[in-house]
Amino acid sequence: MDGNGRWATKRFLPRVAGHAKGVDAVRAIVEACAARGVEYLTLFAFSSENWRRPADEVSVLMRLFMTVLEREVGKMSANGIRLKIVGDMSRFDPKLQEMATKAEAQTAGNTRLTLTVCANYGGRWDVMQAVSKMARANPGVTDFSEDQLGPYLAMAYAPEPDLFIRTGGEQRISNFLLWQLAYSELYFTDTFWPDFDAKALDLAIASYQQRERRFGRTSAQVLDQKKAS
Ligand code: IPE
Ligand code: MG
Repeated sequence: MDGNGRWATKRFLPRVAGHAKGVDAVRAIVEACAARGVEYLTLFAFSSENWRRPADEVSVLMRLFMTVLEREVGKMSANGIRLKIVGDMSRFDPKLQEMATKAEAQTAGNTRLTLTVCANYGGRWDVMQAVSKMARANPGVTDFSEDQLGPYLAMAYAPEPDLFIRTGGEQRISNFLLWQLAYSELYFTDTFWPDFDAKALDLAIASYQQRERRFGRTSAQVLDQKKAS
């Protein structure tokens, strides 16, 4: 989710107004995804590098997280949404950590849509914490396969993403789900996150639907496979 600050600056508003508007966009996109049958939605809310921002902006973002958790979890639960918060939470205010744990517990039984919010998350952090856990679980073992790492990744409960969307005009991954994006379709749009609505989501999905996912195979093989199934 990128472009909150620029959305606000363009309107001569403080950057934090863009973050507040960004929350409205989150609400709308979560609902739109659920309505379209999307089962997993993962939002990159705060990266491990975002701590480098001015202290007052970081603290506004933290307060915004708390307010959202306080106000929205009941409604999420009623809408069948399971909430997961993924990242190194140890650096957050203990109160925020507690609220996150509670929100996860409160929504754990829901099955319509799994909403993962990545907070103090980094793709490299994820791979390294998984490698460490895997090594600790297998003392003395020095050779591992790719499949062995999977269960230790922070989002082991979710399939790899089909579609990756970055708003706000930049064309980079910025340390998001590095391992899991290996075969994801990438979609970049200039639309700032606060303006990213259901219509914009449909454009992204339409672009995804035109892609041919070959996973290393040839186009002819993929077509044969489709005919056979
Ligand atoms: C994304 O918007 C929101 C967060 C990282 C929390 P930005 O704050 O990065 O907005 P721009 O890139 O400055 O416009
Ligand atoms: Mg940005």
